[in-house]
Amino acid sequence: MGIALIWCLALIFIKWITSKRRGAISYDSSDQTALYIRMLGDVRVRSRAGFETERRGSHPYIDFRIFHSNSEIEVSVSARNVRRLLSFQRYLRSSRFFRGITVPNSSNILDDDYNGQAKCMLEKVGNWNFDIFLFDRLTNGNSLVSLTFHLFNLHGLIEHFQLDTMKLRRFLVMVQEDYHSQNPYHNAVHAADVTQAMHCYLKEPKLSKSLTPWDVLLSLIAAATHDLDHPGVNQPFLIKTNHYLATLYKNTSVLENHHWRSAVGLLRESGLFAHMSLENRQLMESQIGDLILATDISQQNEYLSMFRSHLDRGDLCLENANHRHFILQMALKCADICNPCRTWELSKQWSEKVTEEFFHQGDIEKKYHLGVSPLCDRQTETIANIQIGFMTYLVEPLFGEWARFSNTRLSQTMLGHLGLNKASWKGVQREQSGSGDDVDPTFEEMDSDILPQEPRLS
Ligand SMILES: *[C@@H]1O[C@H](CO)[C@@H](O)[C@H](O)[C@H]1NC(C)=O
Ligand SMILES: *[C@@H]1O[C@H](CO)[C@@H](O)[C@H](O)[C@H]1NC(C)=O
Ligand SMILES: [Zn+2]
Repeated sequence: MGIALIWCLALIFIKWITSKRRGAISYDSSDQTALYIRMLGDVRVRSRAGFETERRGSHPYIDFRIFHSNSEIEVSVSARNVRRLLSFQRYLRSSRFFRGITVPNSSNILDDDYNGQAKCMLEKVGNWNFDIFLFDRLTNGNSLVSLTFHLFNLHGLIEHFQLDTMKLRRFLVMVQEDYHSQNPYHNAVHAADVTQAMHCYLKEPKLSKSLTPWDVLLSLIAAATHDLDHPGVNQPFLIKTNHYLATLYKNTSVLENHHWRSAVGLLRESGLFAHMSLENRQLMESQIGDLILATDISQQNEYLSMFRSHLDRGDLCLENANHRHFILQMALKCADICNPCRTWELSKQWSEKVTEEFFHQGDIEKKYHLGVSPLCDRQTETIANIQIGFMTYLVEPLFGEWARFSNTRLSQTMLGHLGLNKASWKGVQREQSGSGDDVDPTFEEMDSDILPQEPRLS
């Protein structure tokens, strides 16, 4: 027990040190490579075999030709070429014309979120019942752009940081387009949902009275970008298929590292903060990284035990910037997995979507004889089982601690929905199996599944 705790603290300390160091020096060469890879999309990244993948053609966005080939990558373009290719690619991607969607009037793209009903919904953007699916329909699939722009305005960030609204729009459009709309779950609507939840948490009294505009800015950007360019499959899948991202990030927080580098790429490309000092921009990039990396669910135990011991000692001091940023990491983690804390109507839709994505991965794994990942086999798993396991092992522990930190009506509402939704899934489970009450232990084992190279901490 004592040994385990010391181990845990030591590990957290090491991680903290390394993350500090990463923030302090700018980007080393492997970070640059990561940025270029992200910026080029997959169009220019070639394997030894010399193939060229398509951008966004397939679902999930994985090139199956790499399965048995050497995954070493080669980026043989100069920085200037990168930039040139990039803007052309960006142009192609964001041009509705090339995708056969005619837009009669370009100011329409920018302003269509201000049509009546969507605008009306935004007046209640701080409500926990906010229906992001409806909002996405009303904004014609632009929920992430509309919602985030609105929140920047609402929090006074545009004025405070002297942001160019055209650049901000362009940045948000790029972010939205970098999500894969083919993913049933990890798409821009999920990002918008997480951003909306984050906004609700930022408004909680404990936070709102201590947060600076800078904190709010980082939180909203991190929420909006936290799953950027998600391929619709999980990390174990990328590792076992020798995906170049797994190689690049050494099998550790592979997706989250990619989301972060993608966000940094877009921030730099948009020039949104070009008027700030280099120091501030670097600080922003590294702090956004700390927030996004915290969403790696396989690291939840580490974050949660740190949170728990702070709460036990009662030593959180939100005047302290480090403590505030830790709380923002916890808030983003909550926002990311808050689906079961929404009303049943919303929660159920998310559950169906995430299961569809899991099962799709399972289908691919079967087809290519890769061994089906936990939770991904549609023959043996059910939505109800998956949800009950998810709630029991990940959501309840996290939100339990969050409610200790912020014991408000919102926290009670979230725990209330969580309990009701779990009971509903148990009802479904009983109907389906007759035996009832099985809790899928997969989530409990998840740490060891995903991170075989690290000692377990429990
Ligand atoms: C584009 O749309 C806006 C608002 O809908 C309108 O005021 C403007 O005249 C339109 N411009 C053109 C070129 O159609
Ligand atoms: C990543 O995992 C794969 C499969 O387990 C292994 O072959 C590879 O050596 C690992 N890479 C690193 C850098 O640990
Ligand atoms: Zn997410």
